[in-house]
Amino acid sequence: MTLTIIETHTARTHQTFRKDRYVSQEVKALEDRAIWGNTWLLAGLASDVARPGDFFVFAVGIEQILVTRDEAGDLQAFFNVCQHRGNRLVCEAHGTTQHFRCPYHAWTFGLDGQLKGVPLVEKFAEDPRKANRHLKSVHVALWNGFVFVHLGSEPEPLLTFLGPVAERLAPYDFGAMTLVEDQTVQLDCNWKAVVDNFSELYHVDFLHPQHKRMVDCHNDTVRLYSGGHTGVEVPGGTVNQKFGIPDEPTDIQSSQLKSLDLDPADYKGRVLEVRTAIQSQKRALATSRGMPYSRFSDDQLSDVWQYNLFPNTILSFTPEHCWVLRPRPHALDPNQCEFDKISLVRFPDAATDQKPILGPASRDGVAMRPEGRPKRDLFSYQAVITGEKTMTDTIDQDVELLGQVQLGMRSNGFSDVYLNEDEARVQHFHAEWDRKMHEI
Ligand code: FES
Ligand SMILES: [Fe+2]
Repeated sequence: MTLTIIETHTARTHQTFRKDRYVSQEVKALEDRAIWGNTWLLAGLASDVARPGDFFVFAVGIEQILVTRDEAGDLQAFFNVCQHRGNRLVCEAHGTTQHFRCPYHAWTFGLDGQLKGVPLVEKFAEDPRKANRHLKSVHVALWNGFVFVHLGSEPEPLLTFLGPVAERLAPYDFGAMTLVEDQTVQLDCNWKAVVDNFSELYHVDFLHPQHKRMVDCHNDTVRLYSGGHTGVEVPGGTVNQKFGIPDEPTDIQSSQLKSLDLDPADYKGRVLEVRTAIQSQKRALATSRGMPYSRFSDDQLSDVWQYNLFPNTILSFTPEHCWVLRPRPHALDPNQCEFDKISLVRFPDAATDQKPILGPASRDGVAMRPEGRPKRDLFSYQAVITGEKTMTDTIDQDVELLGQVQLGMRSNGFSDVYLNEDEARVQHFHAEWDRKMHEI
């Protein structure tokens, strides 16, 4: 592993810390203010609020945020709470509407959050529309195809929060990608156990042995940024050299080569040359395939990057696709969370009619453009264990394990975690978490 520390001094300061942050009700209550109420959060996709009347709901702990685009074309975000007696205003995860009507007593709010209609308004001592019973707004901003919200009162600008990460990820243009799958699994673990899991490659050789056929986890580059953000850049289109170099390309390398009109037989005895072959062939095919490869570096054309935005957004991506992985805290229980996997694909430009060339891991197979927005699929982790649902082999393996981690953490036989340098990103995340928890 190569470690690059950018604008931060908190690397490897958290080799050990107590388990209460994963299991304690008191810590969870503090988190609601110190973390969820005090940082920018990736709420959803800009494509879900592209036109006036589009909306989606983002749930995080006890809060739900309603994001919409009003008639003037402005992005709006509100607490999803009716200002009459506090009912949840909108129950659908996403959709399009002309106004929001509370199902309880039919108060109606405009897309701009203004209270418009009140049945039997004459029975109120003062007209609620004049008594400022409009929806309560929260800060909202856009970056690279994603909508962020901030539940606090005076947030720093979103670009300040993202820092150098924003520029580093700019070529990927996630906003030009299309949503192809929207999954949420209910997990019996704390949300930070999911972030931890996606902050280190230490476990990959053991839990995900299939990865050695497509990426070289032992030659990764780790980046730590101020604000708790982290990145890992993993060579793709190659093999994990720790396990030896095969004579012929692996099945995954072969399918990548074929998808780029290259013959795997040409790479017998030259398996380590496949990665650079993929890079140059993507450049050669960029125009005919309608893919914007010219704006990427060679490494970016072959490699898998994963960037974690503090606190709970994990972006795993190549030029062709992106997974948004996002654990969200349960409303009441520190031992539960919901874990989203939002799959985006960069389809070729309209001028061509080619299938997308998928990333080095070929993790989603060949994606087809969906007809309309895929519905959010919500299921329990039991459905993953029984095989009824899958979030891809790798994530299924993680999901099956995480409930056991939480049970172990709750045991009297466990008191604190003990981390190594391959877990530098885990340490970095927790250092920022501590900083923010002590800020309030
Ligand atoms: S709680 Fe919404 S109208 Fe009564
Ligand atoms: Fe994993």
